[in-house]
Amino acid sequence: MSPDIPSLVDELTLSEKIQLLHGSVDPDGKATGYLPGVDRLDVPPLRMVDGPLGVRAMGERATAFPASVALAASWRPSLARQFGTALARETAAHGQDVILAPGVNIHRAPLGGRNFEYYSEDPHLAARITVGTIEGIESEDIAAMVKHYVANNQETNRYEVSAEVSERALREIYLPPFRAAVQEADVTSVMTAYNRVNGTHMSDHEYLLSDVLKDEWGFEGFVVSDWWGTRSTVEAARAGLDIEMPGVEPEAFAPDDVDMDVEDLPDAFPPIPDVAALFGEPLREAVESGDVDEAVIDEKVERLLRGMVSIGCFEERPEGALDTPGHRTLARDIATEGAVLLQNDGTLPLEDVESIAVLGPNADTPKLGGGGSSEVSAFVETSPVERLDARDVDVIFERGVPPITESTFFDEADEVDAGETSIDAAVDAAADADCAVVVAQDDATEFVDRDGLGLPGQQDELITAVAAAAERTVVVLRTSGPVTMPWLESVDAVLETWYPGQADGDALADLVFGDAEPGGRLPMTFGRSTDDYPTDSEATFPGVDDEVRYDEGVFVGYRYFHKHDVEPLFPFGHGLSYTSFEYGEPSLSDNGDEITVALPVRNTGTRQGKDVVQVYVNKATESAPTPVRELVAFEAVSVAAGEQETVTVTLDRSDFAFYDDQDGWTVPQGENTVFVGRSAREMHGKVEITL
Ligand code: NOJ
Repeated sequence: MSPDIPSLVDELTLSEKIQLLHGSVDPDGKATGYLPGVDRLDVPPLRMVDGPLGVRAMGERATAFPASVALAASWRPSLARQFGTALARETAAHGQDVILAPGVNIHRAPLGGRNFEYYSEDPHLAARITVGTIEGIESEDIAAMVKHYVANNQETNRYEVSAEVSERALREIYLPPFRAAVQEADVTSVMTAYNRVNGTHMSDHEYLLSDVLKDEWGFEGFVVSDWWGTRSTVEAARAGLDIEMPGVEPEAFAPDDVDMDVEDLPDAFPPIPDVAALFGEPLREAVESGDVDEAVIDEKVERLLRGMVSIGCFEERPEGALDTPGHRTLARDIATEGAVLLQNDGTLPLEDVESIAVLGPNADTPKLGGGGSSEVSAFVETSPVERLDARDVDVIFERGVPPITESTFFDEADEVDAGETSIDAAVDAAADADCAVVVAQDDATEFVDRDGLGLPGQQDELITAVAAAAERTVVVLRTSGPVTMPWLESVDAVLETWYPGQADGDALADLVFGDAEPGGRLPMTFGRSTDDYPTDSEATFPGVDDEVRYDEGVFVGYRYFHKHDVEPLFPFGHGLSYTSFEYGEPSLSDNGDEITVALPVRNTGTRQGKDVVQVYVNKATESAPTPVRELVAFEAVSVAAGEQETVTVTLDRSDFAFYDDQDGWTVPQGENTVFVGRSAREMHGKVEITL
C-alpha cells in the first residue's frame, strides 16, 4: 500500500533523507542511476535507465527503436504514445523504474550533435510528440524524465557554455516542450541540462527551476541533475534541484567492461566534484549549519516520494515485456512512418525492377542510432543489403568507398573488414543493374557537434559517380539531420530514413517496394549551407569565451529562413507521398472559446496515402517582430485512393499569443492570418481571423 507521504517524511532521519537525494552504486549493475531507498521504512530503491531510443540497461539488450527525430518526422503523436508505451514495458522488463527520456531540446543549430535524440526545430511539433511519448511511458507505471531542461542545444563546451537567450525566445521556442510535458502529460521527473543559461548553471537556476517550472507551471515531481552536472550544494539545493546523479565517481559508476578512462575526464565530463556527492555529506552539513533549511530537504523528499507513489513503487506493478513481436513491428512502423521522401521522379516505389545495385560504405549494417548514452544493443537487426536481397530481385552489393566509422561510447567500434573499396566497382555494378540504391550516412554522437553539413568521407563522390552511370539512382540517407546534396539534380529519388534502428533493412525494403509509403515530413529545415542558419558565426555557434549568443531570438529554423528570405533545400514540413492530394477551401469557425479549421483533402492518386495537413499562423502583432508563419496545429490523415476526408483541427486563443517582455503572454488585437499547407513553404489556402 502506498504510504502517507507527510507521515513518512516525519519518520525519516536526516541521514535517510539525504540518502534519498543523491545516487549511489546499483548493486545489480544495470541502472544508469540508482537511489537506494530506505529499507527500515520499506521505501524501495528507484532505478533509472537511459533512454531515449530504447532501454540501455548496462550489459543488456532491448528493442532499438528509430531515433527520436524519426518519431517526430511521423507527425503522429498517437504513434509517439505507442512508442512510449513499448519503451516503458521494456523498462519494466529490465527491472527499472524511470526512463531517462524523452529528450526534447530544440534543434537550434543544424550541426547539434544530439539532434537525432531530439525532435524538431519547432516547439509545437516537439511539444505534441513529447506529450504523446510521456503519456505512453507513464501509462505503464514507469516514470518519464524529460530532458535536458533547458537550452541544451549543442555539445561543444556543453558543461560551461552559457546560452545567452532572451526571455521571449525561452518562452516561445525552448520552454514549450517542457511546459507541455508538465502541464499536459503530468511528467514525473525533469533532468536539468549541463549548460548555463544567461550565466547560471541549470542545476543552480532558481528562476527556471523554482519560479518557472515549479511555481508557475505547477510541477509536482522531482528535478534530477544530469550525470555529474550538479555544480554546488547550497545554491543548487535552494534553487530547486532535488536529486543529484549519479552521486558516485566515474570509477565506481562504470562497469568493468565500459571503457571510461578517468584520464580523459576533462574532455568527456564536467569537473567531477572532489566529494562523492554534493548532495551527500556536504548537504547534510549544510542543513546542520543552517545554510539549508530542513524544510527544503523535506520538500525534495516529498517530491521524490510523490513520484514514486504515482508510478506504483509501493505496490504490485506491471512486469513489462521485452522484444515482443509487437515491439518489433512498432520499431518497423516508426521507421516507415518517419521516413521522408524528399524527391521522387516516379522511380519509387520500384516496379518492374529485376536487379538492384545496393551501394554505400555501410549498406550491409543497420544504422541503429547515434553515439553516446542513447546507444541500445538490439536483439535483432536488419541491414539494407540483407533485406533488399531477401526480395524477389537480384542484388549486388558494393561498398564503393571506405566505411564511415560510427562513434560509440559503450561498445568497441565495429571494425568493418571492408577490404579494398573502389568507386569504379560500384559504378560498374550500377551500370549493370536496373536501379542503383546508394545508402549514405553521417556519424552524429553525444559529446561533439557535427563538423559540417556535408556527408562524411567520400560518399558525395560515390553518389555523383553512380548517378552518372546508373539508369535510375535512389539515394537513401541515414542522417541525424540536414546534409548537403551536391548531386541532387542527377539522382531520381532521395529518401531520408534518419537512424532507423533495428528494423532498418526491413523498413527500407517495405518503402522501396511500396509495401509501405514514406509517411514522414521534415521536422527541421534542410538548408543549402551552414550559412543559411542563424548559427553561422562563432559567437552564435558554438560560442566564444563560454558564451553562445542566441541573437536570432525567436527566429529559429524556418522562422529564420522566412525572415531572411533564404530558400531552403527542403523546407520544414516537406515530404512526398506515393499518391497525390488536392486541398479544398479551408473554412474557419470561431465560437468564442474554440476556433476550428476544417479542410477537405482529396486523394487524387491511385493508392492509399498519408498526408499531413499543417496549420500556420501569422500573428497580428505590431509591437514585436513575429515570424511570417508559425506552426500551431497539424493532423496526419490517411485517405483511400479517390476518396476525400475533411481534416479538422482546433486552435486556441493562446495559439495566437506572443510573449511580451513586459506583459508576458499577450494575444494581439487585430487580424491574424491562418494558413493551411503542406510545408512551411507550400500554402494552399488562408483565412483571416480577428480575435
Ligand atoms: C548524460 C546525458 O546528457 C543524459 O542524456 C544521460 O541520460 C545521462 N548522461 C546518463 O547517461
